[in-house]
Amino acid sequence: MNTLKKVCNGLLLLLLSCQLSEVSAKVNNSIVASPDGKLSVNLSIENGQAYYSVSRNSKSILLKSLLGFTFKNIPSLDKDFEIKSVEKSSFNQTWEQPWGEKRFVVNNYNELVVHLLEIKNLKRKLDLVFRVFNDGFGFRYKFPQQPNIDSLIITNEETEFNFPAVHNAWWIPVHSDNSYYESIFRHTALNKVDTVNTPLTLETKEGLFLAIHEANLTDYASMTLVRIDSSRFKCELVPWANGIKVYAKAPFETPWRTMIITDKPGDLVTSYLMLNLNEPCKLQDISWIKPIKYIGIWWGMHLEKYSWGQGAIHGATTENTMRYIDFSAKNGFGGVLVEGWNEGWDGNWPENGNVFSFTKAYPDFDIDKICKYAESKKIKLIGHHETAGAVANYEKQMEDAFKLYQLHGVNSVKTGYVNKYLNGKEWHDGQFGVRHYRKVFETAAKYHIMVDNHEPVKPTGLCRTYPNFMTQEGARGQEYDAWSSDGGNPPSYTTILPFTRMLAGPFDFTPGTFNFDKPAKHYARVQTTIAKQLAEYVIIYSPLQMASDLPENYNGKAFDFIKQVPCDWSDTKVLNAEIGSFVTIARKDRNSGIWYVGAITNENKRELTINLQFLDKNKEYTAQIYSDGADADWKTNPKSFDYKEIKVNSLSVLSVNLAPGGGAAVRLVMK
Ligand code: NOJ
Repeated sequence: MNTLKKVCNGLLLLLLSCQLSEVSAKVNNSIVASPDGKLSVNLSIENGQAYYSVSRNSKSILLKSLLGFTFKNIPSLDKDFEIKSVEKSSFNQTWEQPWGEKRFVVNNYNELVVHLLEIKNLKRKLDLVFRVFNDGFGFRYKFPQQPNIDSLIITNEETEFNFPAVHNAWWIPVHSDNSYYESIFRHTALNKVDTVNTPLTLETKEGLFLAIHEANLTDYASMTLVRIDSSRFKCELVPWANGIKVYAKAPFETPWRTMIITDKPGDLVTSYLMLNLNEPCKLQDISWIKPIKYIGIWWGMHLEKYSWGQGAIHGATTENTMRYIDFSAKNGFGGVLVEGWNEGWDGNWPENGNVFSFTKAYPDFDIDKICKYAESKKIKLIGHHETAGAVANYEKQMEDAFKLYQLHGVNSVKTGYVNKYLNGKEWHDGQFGVRHYRKVFETAAKYHIMVDNHEPVKPTGLCRTYPNFMTQEGARGQEYDAWSSDGGNPPSYTTILPFTRMLAGPFDFTPGTFNFDKPAKHYARVQTTIAKQLAEYVIIYSPLQMASDLPENYNGKAFDFIKQVPCDWSDTKVLNAEIGSFVTIARKDRNSGIWYVGAITNENKRELTINLQFLDKNKEYTAQIYSDGADADWKTNPKSFDYKEIKVNSLSVLSVNLAPGGGAAVRLVMK
């Protein structure tokens, strides 16, 4: 962390300019452009209402879009505005991530703060803060402390996104498939889009790519988007059970509403705008936070080979856990996740979350012995807290639960909330859920515990502020390939993920399944080839990264790639991409400097060229290429696989054949 501090201190001095300029009152609009001057955001007042609009290279990205709020019991704050004053400033800083897809992140934007005043009635003040980057923008509302605003009960945030045309969209619906974002992406015209979650990703007819999301979701409700016209959307905050959207007290600020705007889909992936709009790290000591790869007593439960609850096939036994620890140590993994170790799993656990104990182990799980054994093998046990959504039961035990883990040297936990509602009535992504999840990772930080959160509220970049908040679910993981009644994740799914859900942050997708048989009791199966399973380690980023399969299925050359591939990168490049069809990503290992490339395709076979110009010039490399065999096909021959080594340099262009549902993984080692 010393490096981090030094870099941050040094770079802080390099702030290019931060000029404040007061502009006289009574203007009715104010414009701020990106540092390269191409993107501009205009805040205007028309007939007392506040709007923003956005253009890029003089072409409209968003038409005049409304801003404002309605409240319970007090007049709305959405009219009779005038611009009291504005402030403009610029910022340019490079900061270092403790872990991530890129080590050094440039945070360069121009800022406009518009101080609005309600000229009639309550004469309330509302500030709008816009930050415009070269690759997009963010804005938030700020409610300053003032006489006529104290506690606020927000019934609607009226923010609009008014697109000038009916773009193409990739989206998932809100709460209709289930309440934690586990949906297959829809690809439709904008005028067919329902109420959707963010990130919402769009492609315009001119070939621009846009992604709307939010950053720094703190003590507020998640933003979803409802279509109010063919291409006009409005923010729809996820409500409390009583219909209220947000309880707040001035002064306060909303999360940032964000849009990434790029010419290529790959540039969405390498935008760091959302992280930049989060606050710097708040934890003093982060030396204990370390990305690791892990295996788990987990897939066996999803296949029904093991059970979470007690009985003849209980997975979390002392003996089985020690076997997993041995396998983990032998193959260079960092941890073993164990689910079903604690009391509460017997019977219908999703319906009975209140009986979970987070401190009492089942009699056949000797936590003391297991943790001592793990320590002797330099393996970390990864804890598990499934709550079944019974948040009150969990919160009562949370401190003791984390204390127990800390006592046993467990420094990461997977949390889970399998239930339509939290506490039987609240959405996961309303203000209630947002507050709860925050409490979990803040409490975990006190006990030096990293968090992998399943059934979460969507990520919004909070891992910058709390780097122990490592990874989340918040999408259909590979577990659907064990039991989903629709057969599992279709081959195109992972070619959409990088441009949608992955824009929000790391995903514990759990790649690495080598067994493609249909589980005995289910219809689903993994719909990839084995080479695509390897490529997914590069494509789908998670700093706690799983090798999902049973140890007995791991053997052969392909397993070498899983053993070697890291989960902490200093750089990321998207080499080619077409959303829903294919994507190739190259990432550089933060520790060894070795480059890894993953390429994946949908259900169609294709030949991809991979230009290696990102390699160091004038150096020779060995490319270790794991690719689909000539007769590979996810349906008929998923295990057919080739391995070869060739000499390459920065002038080389690889050509790889991907099978239907296939992929390729390449490791580039400097000689
Ligand atoms: C759903 C999670 O996604 C899965 O990984 C876990 O095994 C089960 N819940 C049980 O907690």
